[in-house]
Amino acid sequence: MYLGIDIGTSAVKLVCADTDCILATSSVGIKTSSLQPGWSEQHPDLWWQATRDALRMLADKIKLSEVKAIGLSGQMHGAVMLDRDLRPIRPAILWNDSRATFECDELRMTQPQIGQIAGVLPLPGFTAPKIAWLKKHEPANYARLAHILLPKDYIGLRLHGELATDTSDAAGTMWFDQASRSWHVGIAEDTGVSPDWLPQVFDGHRVVGAVTAQAAAESGLKSGVPVVAGGGDAATGAISLGATEPGRGFISLGTSGQLFVADRKYKPNPERYVHAFAHTLPERWYQMAAMLNGARPISWIGGQLGLSASEVVALAETVRGDRVPIFLPYLTGERSPLGDPHIRACFFGLEDSTTRADICRSVLESVAFCFADAAQSFGDTMGSLSELAAIGGGAQSDLLLKLIATATDKPIVRSEGAETGPAYGAARLAACGDGAVAISDLAFQPPTTDRFEPAEMALLFERLAQFRRLYAAIKNVS
Ligand code: XUL
Repeated sequence: MYLGIDIGTSAVKLVCADTDCILATSSVGIKTSSLQPGWSEQHPDLWWQATRDALRMLADKIKLSEVKAIGLSGQMHGAVMLDRDLRPIRPAILWNDSRATFECDELRMTQPQIGQIAGVLPLPGFTAPKIAWLKKHEPANYARLAHILLPKDYIGLRLHGELATDTSDAAGTMWFDQASRSWHVGIAEDTGVSPDWLPQVFDGHRVVGAVTAQAAAESGLKSGVPVVAGGGDAATGAISLGATEPGRGFISLGTSGQLFVADRKYKPNPERYVHAFAHTLPERWYQMAAMLNGARPISWIGGQLGLSASEVVALAETVRGDRVPIFLPYLTGERSPLGDPHIRACFFGLEDSTTRADICRSVLESVAFCFADAAQSFGDTMGSLSELAAIGGGAQSDLLLKLIATATDKPIVRSEGAETGPAYGAARLAACGDGAVAISDLAFQPPTTDRFEPAEMALLFERLAQFRRLYAAIKNVS
C-alpha cells in the first residue's frame, strides 16, 4: 500500500492506494493569510500539523504500518525560506501572491532570454522574484536565509531530513533551465540567491530518503519507509490521469485552474504565458496554462452568499444566460494567458432584477471562459487533443464541465477519484519508486465514468466575446 501526501492551498489531502486503486483518503483544511492586498502566505509548520492530523484520520481507516513507500505532491512556486538550522524564517510566500511585480520587471531586463530558459516569463507567483523582494524589503530575514524549498519539500524535510526537490517543482521556480533540467546559476544570482541554497533535484519517482525515528514518533508512520521526490501538483495530477505521453491532456479545477498537455519535447511559448516545464518523469516536459483563480470563485461567491459550492452550482442550473451579468473572476490577478498581476475581479451588467441565481451562473460561466482563453493561447496544440480529463473539486459539477466542454470545444471526461488527483499521482510515484510499477505503467489512464460533449450554445459564445471585451476595457483601471 502506498501513501500520497498533497500539500494543497485549501487542504492537505492524503490518498492511500495499492498499485491500481484508491483504498482510503483523508483531508484537513488549511487557511491562507493575506496581510496586505495581493499577499498570500501560509506557515510551513501549518502544513506539517495538517499532515499529522490527516494521518491520524487515515489511521482510522487503514494500518499506517502497512505503507510501503510515500510520495509527495504540493502547491507549486511557494518560497519556503529556511535558516541554517532548517527552521522557517517566516511564513512561506505562495503561488498566488503578487507582491513581487517590480522584481519581475528587473529580471526581464537582466535576463532577456529568460522565457526560453525558464519556460515562462517572470511573474510574481514564481519563486525567484519573491527572494529578490525579500532581499529588498526584509533584509534581516534575507540575512538569515540558508536554504530554499518548495512547499511539498518542507514535508519531505520533516519526514526524512533531506533538502531535496523534483524536476517539476524545480521547474516552477524560474531558476531552472528546463532544457538541461538543472539549476541556472545566472538567474539564481540575479535574484540574490546563492546556488548552494537550492535543493538537490531528483526525478519524481526516485527515493530521496526514509522516514526518520522522530518523524515516525510525530506522525504514526513506520520509521525507515522510503519517500520519493514526488512532484508539483500539476505534474502529480498528470500522473493520476496517465498524462505522461505526448497528446495526453487534462484540466484541473481546484483553488487554481490548469490546462495541461504532456510532451516528449521542451516547447517554450512564453509570449502567451503558457508555461513549458520539465515533467516529474525523465525525458518528459509539459505545456500548461495556469489560471490563478481556477474554481475558487465558486467557493468565494458561496462564502459571500452563505451557500456551499454545490448550492452555488444548483442555483446556477436554474437560470439561462440572457439576463445574467458577466463576471471577471480575477480575484488574485491572472497568470495565463493575461500575465496580469494587477487585474481584479468585477461584475458587469447588474440590474435591478439580477438574482442570486444569476450571480451564481455568471461565476460558473466565468470559470469556463478562463479555460476558453487558455485553450486559445495553446494554438495548434489543442487540435491534437481528442478530449480532456478533469480533476479537482470543481470536476464534481456536471454544469461546469458542460460549460467548459462548450467554451473550449473539447469533450471533457471525468474518472473515479477525480477530486483527489494530485495525492493519488503522488502515491503512484511512490509505487514506481518502490519498484511495484514501471515508469511506462504511469501512462495508464483510469476508466472514465462520465463524458461531456461541446453543445450548441450560441449565447455562451456571445457572452464569451463580451467577457473578453470587458477585460480589454477595464485592464488599465486600477
Ligand atoms: C501552477 C500553480 C498552481 C499551484 C497551486 O502553476 O500556480 O496550480 O500549483 O495549485
